[in-house]
Amino acid sequence: MDILEAIEQRHSVRQYSDREIEGDVAAKLEAEIAECNRLGGLHMQLKLNEPKAMDCLLARGSFKNAVNYVALVAPKDGFDEAVGWYGERIALYAKTLGLGSCWVAGSYKKIPEALDIADGEKIYMIITIGYGLNDGKQHKSKAAEAVSNISPDSPEWFRRGVEAALLAPTAINQQKFKFELTPDGVKAKAGLGPFSKTDLGIVKYHFAVAAGEENFKFI
Ligand SMILES: Cc1cc2nc3c(=O)[nH]c(=O)nc-3n(C[C@H](O)[C@H](O)[C@H](O)COP(=O)(O)O)c2cc1C
Repeated sequence: MDILEAIEQRHSVRQYSDREIEGDVAAKLEAEIAECNRLGGLHMQLKLNEPKAMDCLLARGSFKNAVNYVALVAPKDGFDEAVGWYGERIALYAKTLGLGSCWVAGSYKKIPEALDIADGEKIYMIITIGYGLNDGKQHKSKAAEAVSNISPDSPEWFRRGVEAALLAPTAINQQKFKFELTPDGVKAKAGLGPFSKTDLGIVKYHFAVAAGEENFKFI
């Protein structure tokens, strides 16, 4: 499976089997996280077999065996969008390795002893990962016209990008983002809503992969 196929097939997975993430799969995930940290100036961390973060009342109803996660740690200010972009890069990569995932901003507990948070950093949220007991299901989606200025004359790459953005996870499936094709490039804007700046990073990553970064630039 490549990243484009991962975009098409990914849904939030909240129930996992007790199969451990280990060996080559764990090593590949660690390498991808290290590369994203290097590129984005982030401090994301893979936590394996750490059951406490998701052992809270809010999570209990919908999550099962959520003992592995990527802790999205980054400098305190101004990294919401980068956390979205690189976190989703990791979630999609995990999908190509056969792993399910779910972004969690609300229903987790911060476990200080499990985390390495330097001065000036904070944990933004986590992404649970693991071998899924199911593949999740397709979310309801807005139309391309509702989230962009797409028209019958738009280039094919713009349509591909907007459609891939609509397949992305957003907090409470709010899809409050807008892509605007202009003569100078693509403007992507976050709407108002919880975690909408992180959503913006996530949907921009989907857009960029599907549209092809050689075809456009974000302005
Ligand atoms: C920033 C963000 C935060 C989220 N927080 C939670 C959460 O706290 N609990 C949860 O169960 N799902 C959470 N989700 C998952 C969304 O509910 C889910 O992505 C959305 O409903 C779309 O469904 P899909 O991921 O299956 O496509 C979050 C997603 C994002 C992008």
